[in-house]
This record gives sequence, structure tokens and C-alpha cells, in this order.
Amino acid sequence: MQSRVLGILLLVQLAAAATPQTIQLQSRAAPKAATLRRRALNPVTVALSDFFLGTDLQWFGNISIGTPPQTLTVVFDTGSTTLEVASTLCGTACSNQVQFNASESSTFIDEHTTNTISFATGVGVDPVVNNDYTLSLRSSVDTVAIGDLMAPSTSFFLITNQTAKFNIDPFSGILGVGATAENVFASFVNQGLPSLFSLFLTPLAVGNAELTLGGIDTTKFSGDLIFASLPANPRTTWSLASPQIFVNGETTSVLTASRNVIFDSGTSNILFPTATANAIYAIISPNIQPYAPEPGAYGIPCADIPSLTAVISVTFTDQAGLPFNLTIPTSELNVGPFAGNETICQTLINAFDGLSLLGGSLFKHYYSVWDVGNKRMGFAAI
Ligand SMILES: *[C@@H]1O[C@H](CO)[C@@H](O)[C@H](O)[C@H]1NC(C)=O
Ligand SMILES: *[C@@H]1O[C@H](CO)[C@@H](O)[C@H](O)[C@H]1NC(C)=O
Ligand SMILES: *[C@@H]1O[C@H](CO)[C@@H](O)[C@H](O)[C@H]1NC(C)=O
Ligand SMILES: *[C@@H]1O[C@H](CO)[C@@H](O)[C@H](O)[C@H]1NC(C)=O
Ligand SMILES: *[C@@H]1O[C@H](CO)[C@@H](O)[C@H](O)[C@H]1NC(C)=O
Repeated sequence: MQSRVLGILLLVQLAAAATPQTIQLQSRAAPKAATLRRRALNPVTVALSDFFLGTDLQWFGNISIGTPPQTLTVVFDTGSTTLEVASTLCGTACSNQVQFNASESSTFIDEHTTNTISFATGVGVDPVVNNDYTLSLRSSVDTVAIGDLMAPSTSFFLITNQTAKFNIDPFSGILGVGATAENVFASFVNQGLPSLFSLFLTPLAVGNAELTLGGIDTTKFSGDLIFASLPANPRTTWSLASPQIFVNGETTSVLTASRNVIFDSGTSNILFPTATANAIYAIISPNIQPYAPEPGAYGIPCADIPSLTAVISVTFTDQAGLPFNLTIPTSELNVGPFAGNETICQTLINAFDGLSLLGGSLFKHYYSVWDVGNKRMGFAAI
């Protein structure tokens, strides 16, 4: 098995410690006026493909940029807020990606500013080591379209170089959809699209994953959606306050601590501070140990995994003030053998001090609604 790289994401600003350079992301807030002039836009559903390497890593779908439109695939990443896509300026460093050619777009504007962005967390199942996930970017403006929704004059970034860790990505870029409407999504909302989106992120074997912009696809779940309000701060991050975590029905003093949990569709694993990760693993099996070659990752001999139980329930509070759990089943514990030692299988939780974050391993079990306008998130079991 290959090393499962990947991922992306997460608000670079959150992880200052590991971030060498943080760019101030340009963004535009959704204009507030114009409510009376808005016409409703219909929701658009985008089919998503699963980037699978032994485990489900990320889900990506089509957008287009430019005039005439050039089709590119992006990960719709709730852990970041900007759009960046591989461009022909990247050349061989992006040779595995479909590249946007700005010279072929009549509406393209080069904003000339260059910068780099280093992803500090949330990289698929692999921890970040030595800034190994870095993109070189050039600021730009062009028309971005998703389905029949069009966002003219939208700020984005051309990827002009990237570190080798990105080479295996089957998609061209990352479209950040944070908890405030920015860039592409802000444009749609200002044109009258309802200010929410929904994700149906299925395992590869199930397929039919999708993103619905501006609506909820009620055919994808049968139970009720439970909504929880976002905390007042930080406002651009999808996160909810959690009072405690249960593992196989047990909790401990370390796990009974309030924390803010980030929801990141661009990450497949779970991240918790080291003490929390250790407390969870102590309940599952003392044989799950840090994997030295990849600091932050844990593993156990692959032969030992099938006998383990690892039901992880993270408690939140709904809008009526009642507790509810989001639960990750045992089937997610095994992320697959490490590339460097195939007798050792990686386990789901990575240690990352300062962050608690849930990713695709949770979303595979819930239909999720990301309600930007009402500052809340909704979940229904699938
Ligand atoms: C994405 O775009 C490509 C190229 O235009 C097209 O072949 C493919 O069918 C599209 N995929 C989906 C899921 O719409
Ligand atoms: C980009 O488009 C221009 C104009 O059509 C073309 O001359 C150039 O070869 C293209 N670049 C690449 C790398 O395809
Ligand atoms: C692209 O990035 C790599 C590091 O990943 C670096 O070695 C190389 O010099 C860069 N290329 C350019 C043209 O900046
Ligand atoms: C959450 O899960 C724990 C452990 O299974 C359970 O004890 C608790 O009752 C659950 N809470 C709710 C609100 O379902
Ligand atoms: C793989 O890990 C096991 C257990 O730690 C160790 O005994 C073995 O030497 C390792 N193999 C390699 C190739 O590193």
C-alpha cells in the first residue's frame, strides 16, 4: 500500500505553531443589502468521486473556471476558505493534475501577488512533517461555475508549484467552504442561493457521494436532522462545543473536558491533542502505540486489529439544549498498513496538540448540513 497522503486543509491560521507562513486570504463577505432584489436560485447538486487509497481519503467534484469554461475537479473543503487550482504555470510539478490555462480564458485577470500556503493539519491520514504540504500560489480573478451557478469576477489562486506530497492527488484543487460565505459561495448567496450546503460523503463501496449547494437532499437520509449552533467564535470555522467523549461507552477525566471540535471535510482522520488521543487509545487497546517514523500517527500490528472494539462517541448539544452524540464505529479504526512497515496498521486518531478535529471518518456515517446563514450544523444518521 502506498502512503496515503493527502488531504488538505484546515485553516492554516489555527495551527500557528507548525505553520511557517500564513497568507492573509483574500475574501469578500457576502453583501448584506439586496435582499429585496434577490431572486431565489435553485439548489445545485454536484456528484462527488471518492479519492480512495486503502481507505476513503477525500471526495471531489467538478467545477469550471474561465471563459470558455475549463472543467477542473476540486475537494470541497470545510476546513479552508479559498479556492486554489493547479495551473499551467505549475508545469511538471503538477503533471498529475488537470491544469487551468489562464491564457485561454478571456475573463481571466492576473492579480500578480504570489505567496505560499502550508497546510499544517488535516492531511488525510498522514501527519504533517516539516512543511511537506506547501503550495506556491498566484492571486487571480475569473468566473467560477458549479453546475449552472456562476460566480463572475471571483478571487482565487493559481497553483504555480507544489511539494511532492500533492503529486498523487487525482483532483486539481481545493475549494474552501468555511462557516462564513466567501468567494464562490458568497457570490451564489448574493445572487439568491439559500445560504447553506449539504454533504453526503459515502464510502467507496456505497458511492453516489454528493454536495448540494443551497439545499438539503432529503432522499439521502431517513431520520431527523439534529441541529447545533456554532459558537460565536471563531466565526470562519466549522466547529461545535463538546462537553465529553465516550469510547466504548466509557469516559475518563481527560475525556470529560469541554473542547471545540472542528469539522473538516478535507481530512479523513481524526485529530486530538496527545493527551486525548492517548486516553482514547488506552481504552481501545494498550497495544496501540505511537508510530515513530511518522510523529503524530499511531499503529498496532495489523493482525491485532480485528479483535478490537473502538466506538467513539463525541457529545454535542442541540439547539434545544439537549445532548446528542456523533459516533464513529469500530470499522473506521483501521486506516491500513503504513507504507514503511506493512505489518503495522495505522489507527484512526492522530495526535495534534491544540486541535480537536473530525473528518471524513465521521461524515461517512451522517448526512451533514452546513447552514452558513443560520450559523448552525445539522446531522442525520445514514
Ligand atoms: C466532470 O467533467 C468531466 C469533463 O468535462 C466529465 O467528463 C465528467 O462526466 C464530469 N463528471 C461529473 C460527475 O459530472
Ligand atoms: C495555454 O494556452 C495558450 C493559448 O492557447 C497556449 O499557447 C499554451 O500552449 C497553453 N499552455 C499549455 C501549457 O498548454
Ligand atoms: C518547486 O518546489 C520544489 C519543492 O517542492 C522546489 O524544489 C522547486 O525548486 C520549486 N520550483 C520552482 C520553480 O520554484
Ligand atoms: C452518548 O454515548 C454514551 C456512550 O455510549 C452514552 O452513555 C450516552 O447516553 C449517549 N448520549 C446520548 C445523548 O445519546
Ligand atoms: C515493523 O515493526 C515491527 C514491530 O515494531 C518491527 O519488529 C519490525 O522490525 C518492523 N519492520 C520494519 C521493516 O521496519
